[in-house]
Amino acid sequence: MPMVVELVVAMLACVRIGAVHSIVFAGFSAESLCERILDSQCSLLITADGFYRGDKLINLKVIADDALQKCRDKSFPVQRCIMLKHLSKVVEAIPLSSQSPPAKRPCPDLQQEKQKDRVKKIRPVPQVPWNPEVDQCWLSLLSGVSEECEPEWCDSEDPLFILYTSGSTGKPKGVLHTIGGYMLYVATTFKLVFDYHPDDVYWCTADIGWITGHSYITYGPLANGATSVLFEGLPTYPDVSRMWEIVDKYQVTKFYTAPTAIRLLMKYGTEPVQKYKRDSLKVLGTVGEPINPEAWQWYYSVVGEKRCPVVDTFWQTETGGHVLTPLPAATPMKPGSATFPFFGVVPAILNESGEELEGPSEGYLVFKQPWPGVMRTVYGNHQRFETTYFEQFPGYYVTGDGCRRDKDGYYWITGRIDDMLNVSGHLLSTAEVESALVEHEAVVEAAVVSRPHPVKGESLYCFVTLTDGVSFSRTLEAQLKKQVREKIGAIATPDFIQNAPGLPKTRSGKIMRRVLRKIARNEQDLGDVSTLADSSVIELLFQNRCCGAM
Ligand code: WTA
Repeated sequence: MPMVVELVVAMLACVRIGAVHSIVFAGFSAESLCERILDSQCSLLITADGFYRGDKLINLKVIADDALQKCRDKSFPVQRCIMLKHLSKVVEAIPLSSQSPPAKRPCPDLQQEKQKDRVKKIRPVPQVPWNPEVDQCWLSLLSGVSEECEPEWCDSEDPLFILYTSGSTGKPKGVLHTIGGYMLYVATTFKLVFDYHPDDVYWCTADIGWITGHSYITYGPLANGATSVLFEGLPTYPDVSRMWEIVDKYQVTKFYTAPTAIRLLMKYGTEPVQKYKRDSLKVLGTVGEPINPEAWQWYYSVVGEKRCPVVDTFWQTETGGHVLTPLPAATPMKPGSATFPFFGVVPAILNESGEELEGPSEGYLVFKQPWPGVMRTVYGNHQRFETTYFEQFPGYYVTGDGCRRDKDGYYWITGRIDDMLNVSGHLLSTAEVESALVEHEAVVEAAVVSRPHPVKGESLYCFVTLTDGVSFSRTLEAQLKKQVREKIGAIATPDFIQNAPGLPKTRSGKIMRRVLRKIARNEQDLGDVSTLADSSVIELLFQNRCCGAM
């Protein structure tokens, strides 16, 4: 669903009746949606007709239908799909003559809508395919039901929701959170990390399709009775002052966003920020990836005019809520450091052999004991939960992130050390993108690595080895990008695709991604390559490098 109030309503309605929700970010493809429906075995899909991302229409119902058809093809028929009329409600304004007939039978309400007076055309309304055996209108369902709904009483350890996150093997993991611990944890972290007071107006710019939206748009703020801004839009649309305009309009006091958004807005200078007063702001938060000190300084000095503490919150879908974070105005800040653990969280830094390092050190970030909000299992695969998080270093929860601790005990996240990429704050698995690439008949092998990007943090750099006789071309490159977009979603679209007649492999056949990362970044010092089976590929790969902005 788009970022509309009804999305929050739908989440809370699930909770009320004891149903478990699994929200899929509206930017994912039909294939990704189908994969998540099958894995979670869900029985009902709630969607909307569509929404606009800037000027671009995203036809959600068509994607949803496509996903449901894919489920049917795999013998998993979802019985019901509820559709919220979002655009047709907003754009109550299309001259009848400009509308083409809907594909199948229209949603009954939509037809009524058409009879209303039309004003002038603003934006096209999506055509809504309609299958009366499966589809139901949100509004029609609401009419005629009682306003009373007794809550279903649940155990504190009953599941609250499943949220899929990328897994390093390529298949997304259904992270399962339970009611009591998660609610306690997000309510407490929200209250303390944003220093919440009843007169605050809080705004988190994340999408509810990600964990930040679950914990710090829906559950944490609402458990505190907070007043929130729910924003459906883009930071740069209709112009790059949009965020600050909204801050002034609603007198936002606590503001929470991602480094990628800050870096994007930084490019336009201070003028679009200073056009608005922002004097209501008190605390600025950041989440999703390491924030580089320049972006931190800009956020602190330009946006917050050095008045507002910046809370750099480190956490994960799996942790449910903040685990390393400053407390505003109480923790002395260091730009780029998530500072110290939240109450009850006990971090450690381990070396390769799993030994705990003391004092200033760098290594694997792990946690030594559970806290209320930690995930309970990978839905349907408890073994995977154990293998992913607890096998490498028995007795510890492994985050997958690298971390440095300085002499003052501050923690500095250095980024993922597994096969994951963080593009604009979204985690992607290299394996997932690779398998989307090799599904193309022209590709026999693919290896994906990250390359630094000034706004997105990291970008996707893909090496592809082609089938004999196929030559690399712009058309093929475009096809491959499209293929990944359609298999996973627009967020996974490759930035660079390089023809790789051979890939650097060890004698046992393992691709040396470390070497590929260096090639993608044009770093000539490759370190130890003595285990390479055939080093002649390296020179060729350097010659064929994709250039373009880093
Ligand atoms: C990264 C998002 C540095 C990290 C809440 C983590 C961060 C992954 C920070 C989880 C931060 C998140 N500083 N890195 N403040 N916050 N990360 O599951 O790599 O989408 O493991 O949860 O984002 O991403 P996820």
